[in-house]
Amino acid sequence: RIVYVNGEFVPFEAATVSIMDRGFLFADGIYEVSAVLGGRLVDNEAHLARLDRSLGEIGIRNPYPTEEWIRLETELVRRNGVDEGLVYMQVTRGAFERDFAFPPAETEPTVVMFTQAKTVARNPLAERGAKVITVPDIRWKRRDIKSVALLAQVLAKQEAAKAGVAEAWMVEDGFVTEGSSSTAFIITGGKVVTRPLSTALLPGITRLAVMRLAEEAGLTIEERLFSVEEAFAAQEAFYTSASAFVMPVIDIDGHELGDGKPGALTKRLRALYLEMAG
Ligand code: PDD
Repeated sequence: RIVYVNGEFVPFEAATVSIMDRGFLFADGIYEVSAVLGGRLVDNEAHLARLDRSLGEIGIRNPYPTEEWIRLETELVRRNGVDEGLVYMQVTRGAFERDFAFPPAETEPTVVMFTQAKTVARNPLAERGAKVITVPDIRWKRRDIKSVALLAQVLAKQEAAKAGVAEAWMVEDGFVTEGSSSTAFIITGGKVVTRPLSTALLPGITRLAVMRLAEEAGLTIEERLFSVEEAFAAQEAFYTSASAFVMPVIDIDGHELGDGKPGALTKRLRALYLEMAG
């Protein structure tokens, strides 16, 4: 397995990062995840645009232009022979003697990339449909930045794992913000409902693609807040991410949705997304 660290492709076992890396000490960095399907990157330029934005929001200089990112990702996918899975990219503010304020401007950001082979399209969970639980959203107030500070999401996902379910939806003031690593959608009154973008949630790349596909398919989309109670009573629900694509939800906190099987509109949206991605 080959990974990428600071300008070099190296065997996984040989890859190292300093213990003074600010990603390690302060979670002072950001990341991206792009899916790979049939050896090709899915919606990758949108992910790279968000990477650039995340970096800009926390004042880390983007180490590479877009074309260079694409070249590195493509090379890594090729070297690892990934047909289906994902590319993980992380940029931190680099390694420097521990001090909260930024290190000197000339400190090189740390760049790490690796691939993971993973079943994204032919995922048996998508056939069955996923159950989710809800948990309080205890995160910071700039969730629009794809920060590597993921402790709240780690704890949320662990709650889901303990409950034997696939995902946790985070709730603030009675309204669903998003999944621990996905965007939340419900379908109610025949309309596709998802939370509008703000600093309260990540602007999901898959979210946008699915909204476009839904619109093209003639579905009505409502970007508005929805409560946990509304989600319990929804006809269908699903969540989206680069690693789950469109994942049908069949149960929320023990409330079965519809007939307890993936909903018809959700299945259609998943099929449309796979068609677009493949
Ligand atoms: N997570 N919201 C959160 C909090 C996320 O972590 C993610 C993605 C999404 C969906 O975004 P996108 O459609 O751009 O993948 C929404 C990635 C997959 C991860 O952390 O592994």
